[in-house]
Amino acid sequence: MTKVIKNGTIVTADLTYKADVLIDSGKIIEIGPNLKGDEEIDATGCYVMPGGIDPHTHLEMPFMGTYSSDDFESGTRAALAGGTTMVVDFALPAPGEGLLEALKRWDNKSTRAHCDYSFHMAITWWSEQVFNEMKQVTERGINTFKHFMAYKGALMVNDDELYSSFKRCAELGAIPLVHAENGDVVAELSAKLLADGNNGPEGHAYSRPPQVEGEATNRAIMIADMAGVPLYVVHTSCEESHEAIRRAKMQGKRVWGEPLIQHLTLDESEYFDKDWDHAARRVMSPPFRNKQHQDSLWAGLASGSLSVVATDHCAFSTEQKRYGVGDFTKIPNGTGGLEDRMPMLWTYGVETGRITMNEFVAVTSTNIAKILNVYPKKGAVLVGADADLVVWDPEATKTISAKTQQSAIDYNVFEGKEVKGLPRYTLSRGVVAWADGKIQTPEGHGEFVARDPGMPVTKALSTWKELTAPRPVERSGIPATGV
Ligand code: URP
Ligand code: ZN
Ligand code: ZN
Ligand code: ZN
Repeated sequence: MTKVIKNGTIVTADLTYKADVLIDSGKIIEIGPNLKGDEEIDATGCYVMPGGIDPHTHLEMPFMGTYSSDDFESGTRAALAGGTTMVVDFALPAPGEGLLEALKRWDNKSTRAHCDYSFHMAITWWSEQVFNEMKQVTERGINTFKHFMAYKGALMVNDDELYSSFKRCAELGAIPLVHAENGDVVAELSAKLLADGNNGPEGHAYSRPPQVEGEATNRAIMIADMAGVPLYVVHTSCEESHEAIRRAKMQGKRVWGEPLIQHLTLDESEYFDKDWDHAARRVMSPPFRNKQHQDSLWAGLASGSLSVVATDHCAFSTEQKRYGVGDFTKIPNGTGGLEDRMPMLWTYGVETGRITMNEFVAVTSTNIAKILNVYPKKGAVLVGADADLVVWDPEATKTISAKTQQSAIDYNVFEGKEVKGLPRYTLSRGVVAWADGKIQTPEGHGEFVARDPGMPVTKALSTWKELTAPRPVERSGIPATGV
């Protein structure tokens, strides 16, 4: 049984053209004019784009004494409702726990997913067991390893661990990711703020100034360079971090930066709201920044110095946020965004002329598909690609509201924002997964997407590093040792 998407305009990372898309057995089998299929999907007035890929989610994540409230069920519903067809979540071993043990837990959690998913593996401690299991993890189809340079005493790893793990990534052809904030300085600043009576949510923002992010980003870039491995910097929120990434790119280093939709569109004034709940609901790391930092991030997307827009979807209810009343360091860190990433980026990016439609596709889907080595299975409108597609209606509007969202939490950090540009249909491997304002795919429809290591960029970098590695100089006449 074939399906055809008719009368739409295809928008990819590099082309815009009118054509129909014919789908069979979950794959695109033909693209062209006047195609016929058993079932028709009308895309009149719409753009047909690769489904979004959100490479940064924390679904049912154990964190700060609780679990994030959206699991793979509600989280992937939110994804599909917003035009995202694949999420990449972080498998998170507790310090001392084996990587394969953690992976089992993530395998179990993800069985209820409504759309496709993959995992990054976090390195939260270092040992021979971790070193050995990293290979088995890559054999399971995970080619990215995440490192937290913050959350001292919990998930944070130190520079020696970072360097060891980055070298192991280089050997395996995998890519390290970093949460770049100087965790030692954050811990000191937090203790001082609390001692001075700054215990409200605004203390969170004061404790994590742009310098802690800029320093850690630069440090991670240099350590990755010495280890001979590319680097992906998650949630790049400020000019200091962006500047380090930009400079590294100009020097030929293989570094990517990932701003979040929250940092692009919400600013630090949220933390100074008189309502404690309002401010605490927006507590995440790094915190929201001022307008100059936002302009820097938008410029990075337009110029190509930043590559991917993600959400870091890590949703905590108001009740969970209230664990931190009287002590901002106990407010669970994280905000939602899965359902809103694409409409918000379209509204504040494409509608305003900050980015083009093709750049929109690049930063929501195609770039990350290439980085993660799943292109063109994902992130493409090409014959042979998975039919993970969004039929995007640029005239559709809505007001974002917690009352109508898929997420399980009781608020939305974008509450009240008017968006223009929404999915009419979202297709997951050829199955209509979102239509008429409802999720259509059953729980468990989502499949794990395996990602092989040894992507072209890791191969190129290791070839170059091998060629330029230190070598002893061959000498003919070596003088006798002095007596
Ligand atoms: O505040 C955040 N970002 N929470 C989720 C965990 C992380 O640091 O990515
Ligand atoms: Zn993080
Ligand atoms: Zn995160
Ligand atoms: Zn469901």
